Amino acid sequence: MDEVWILGGTGRTGRAVASALAGSGAEPVLVGRDPDRLRAAAAEGGHRTLALPDVRAMAGAVAREHPAIVLSTVGPFTTSAPRLVDACLAAGSDYVDVANDLAAVPAVLARHAEAERAGRTLVTGAGFGVAATESVVVRLCDGSRRAVHVRTDMLPSMASDGGLVGEALAGTVLEGLPGVPGGGRFTGRRYRHGRLSAAPIGGEVRELVTPGGDRVRAGLMPLGELVAAQRASGAPSVDCASGAAPSAAARTALRLGSGLLHVGPLRRFATRRLAAVRLPARPAPRSHSWGHATVTWEDGTRSEGWLRLPDAQVATVAFAAEVCRRLARGEGRPGAFTPAALFGPDLATSVGGEFVDPDGADDPGQSSEVRPRPTER
Ligand SMILES: NC(=O)c1ccc[n+]([C@@H]2O[C@H](COP(=O)([O-])OP(=O)(O)OC[C@H]3O[C@@H](n4cnc5c(N)ncnc54)[C@H](OP(=O)(O)O)[C@@H]3O)[C@@H](O)[C@H]2O)c1
Repeated sequence: MDEVWILGGTGRTGRAVASALAGSGAEPVLVGRDPDRLRAAAAEGGHRTLALPDVRAMAGAVAREHPAIVLSTVGPFTTSAPRLVDACLAAGSDYVDVANDLAAVPAVLARHAEAERAGRTLVTGAGFGVAATESVVVRLCDGSRRAVHVRTDMLPSMASDGGLVGEALAGTVLEGLPGVPGGGRFTGRRYRHGRLSAAPIGGEVRELVTPGGDRVRAGLMPLGELVAAQRASGAPSVDCASGAAPSAAARTALRLGSGLLHVGPLRRFATRRLAAVRLPARPAPRSHSWGHATVTWEDGTRSEGWLRLPDAQVATVAFAAEVCRRLARGEGRPGAFTPAALFGPDLATSVGGEFVDPDGADDPGQSSEVRPRPTER
């Protein structure tokens, strides 16, 4: 049976993906740093475990043992992905990650030609972030018309179990923008004239009314789905927003603190402090998460689409597991991709997502063309 090595196998995402893969024909192997935590994580499903001290050692083991698929949940992906992709291409393994930052996602996509030569598949962004909005854009942009502008809105709704933020997430938050062209380390990004340019983080807030009737505010965020939406649409102008964008007060604090975060040791200190923050346990704020996109065509008309998904963390696990299952069935192709670019919008429906048209009637077929909604400003 094909082995799927789950790196970060003791974490929230890794453990849940291992359970989701049980009985699927792909054999999960939990890979982590701490033997005790690994044993505890593996106990329920009886999974094989592999204790290795760090990402370097994990990459070495991949190169030696060439598992069929490596799923990485170890952030920051800006540092873990380059090493793991090297190992996978050398070993003949497919690579999947759940990155969603604007530095890591394009860095994996940039390895397309190498992956083609090696005959392997690399999938980056196989989580709610990237897949939720990318699926809507891929569905709307079928190549029959030229898109001139796209705005995506990722509206996660997620319960918190009250755990720690953790090193992987803290590192991803603070390391997600270095080296991205078009702006500074702590400024946002958008596409204008086909190029990345600066944008205000948390700016250009819109209040959206979901097809479920919830009012949600979303502001610009420089995330991996920005690049996925640009590639899927070919639009020269793309904005990417999130319902989890920082508030005005947090943006002010970010502006004041960003000077300090430029200093490496202070940033590492801030990462350790953020990792140790315990999130309050709370229920999901809404019954669904949503991916939303509005595409403006060259004749000035617009199309809008929604994708309804469950709790965003549940959706992340479902997307990552489904991508691994499909790769294990040999459904990948050589190259580097985001998930819906590789598998189409059908990936979202196969994980329980439902495309919903703007008038509220479920419409799994063609997208509907709409006038601007009065709630969008
Ligand atoms: N795309 C999306 O929508 C999406 C959704 C959810 C999460 N994510 C990303 O996925 C990552 C994991 O999230 P999570 O909630 O599962 O985090 P988590 O519960 O903290 O789990 C992280 C895992 O990574 C391991 N790890 C952390 N730092 C490591 C390092 N330097 N070397 C080796 N292993 C390391 C941890 O191992 P130990 O037990 O040894 O600490 C743990 O197993 C985060 O970066 C997050 O941003 C993306």
